[in-house]
Amino acid sequence: MAFLSGLPAGLTIDQSFVDRELWRRQQGFGRGGRMKIETDKAHFLSGVHHGKTIGSPIAVMLENRDWQNWKEALPVEAGDPDKHKRVASPRPGHADLAGALKYDFTEARYVLERASARESAARVAIGALAKLLLRELGIEVLSHVVAVGATSIVDREVPWGEIEPLSRKDEVLLSCADAEVERRMKEEVDKVLRTGDSLGGVFEVVAHNVPPGLGTYVQWDERLDAMLAAAVMSLQAVKAVEIGSGVHAAYAPGSAVHDEIGYKSEAGFSGFTRTRNNAGGLEGGVSNGQDIRVRGYLKPISTLRRPLQSVDFATREPVKAAYERSDVCVVPAAGVAGEAMVALTLARCALEKFGGDSLKETKRNFAGYLEQLKKF
Ligand SMILES: Cc1cc2nc3c(=O)[nH]c(=O)nc-3n(C[C@H](O)[C@H](O)[C@H](O)COP(=O)(O)O)c2cc1C
Repeated sequence: MAFLSGLPAGLTIDQSFVDRELWRRQQGFGRGGRMKIETDKAHFLSGVHHGKTIGSPIAVMLENRDWQNWKEALPVEAGDPDKHKRVASPRPGHADLAGALKYDFTEARYVLERASARESAARVAIGALAKLLLRELGIEVLSHVVAVGATSIVDREVPWGEIEPLSRKDEVLLSCADAEVERRMKEEVDKVLRTGDSLGGVFEVVAHNVPPGLGTYVQWDERLDAMLAAAVMSLQAVKAVEIGSGVHAAYAPGSAVHDEIGYKSEAGFSGFTRTRNNAGGLEGGVSNGQDIRVRGYLKPISTLRRPLQSVDFATREPVKAAYERSDVCVVPAAGVAGEAMVALTLARCALEKFGGDSLKETKRNFAGYLEQLKKF
């Protein structure tokens, strides 16, 4: 179940778009068995009528088809303890041990089920609604993969025109804009599939056509860069977030980093231009009118077919960590979940700035602001 409050009334909900987003999260070379079982579809339970939002909270349900296979192992009622499937030895890198200690569980079954990135499907469902709102303001949010393991194009600023076609593909491999690099990424995944290992990588979310002025520097928790970093970091397995060329920038002199300013009256939202976009569209915690670029760095998946060392919860004896059906590489899928988090964050900021109980009102306020920028 996913819940979303605050969307204005009158926004058309395109069911096929929402389901396509859910489908995109399920794709990518290196996914495990579960994604073959689930074909996600959004069921709207409240807040949408006659195909449009009505301003009230929206509830969306996604069915877990895999539940059919778990009714006896993980029943709602007490059930038969002999049929329970324990996660007997915590997996290093997963939430198993920390979660069992925290909630005082004798093993990690409940931890595994809730810590799982299956939860990110719910984020993608409501993220799709945020995207539909942003589209009404001309803003698009998509992602692409810039690294899988050691194979990367992290140094290249991939233009929007190369990112957008990736989202329309009906067969998703690794969502890299460079076909040759993608082929090498696939080889890396093939290798870990053979050896029982796993991989991480880097995705980049790009928000296109964002006007200057979302977020603010006036309070630390209202900075858009901070909100985006928290939103992307909150995704399972993301261990670092980068805005623009933030990581490299730390090692370079200012002259090589900051994006020089020019002016051409017809350009962009306000006529001000930039020579490049190392800032990733954000200065002072405020969008500056360039594409917003946020990267999520994923650690390798922690469930290994050739497991690492662990300890049995019951006996405390050394054993290999538990293995359960798992993905080995999820970078494209994490990118789609990252899009959802960025879209939800931008939609919140946009609604804070432009307000509106109906979409008509929001768009009128937005148009007024665009006019103000043009006349600046
Ligand atoms: C889309 C996606 C799918 C994932 N699938 C798996 C998986 O199949 N097996 C696994 O061990 N971890 C998987 N993870 C990562 C774990 O959920 C994550 O490492 C774990 O919950 C611990 O949280 P942390 O890595 O943020 O500390 C996935 C992550 C994402 C974003």
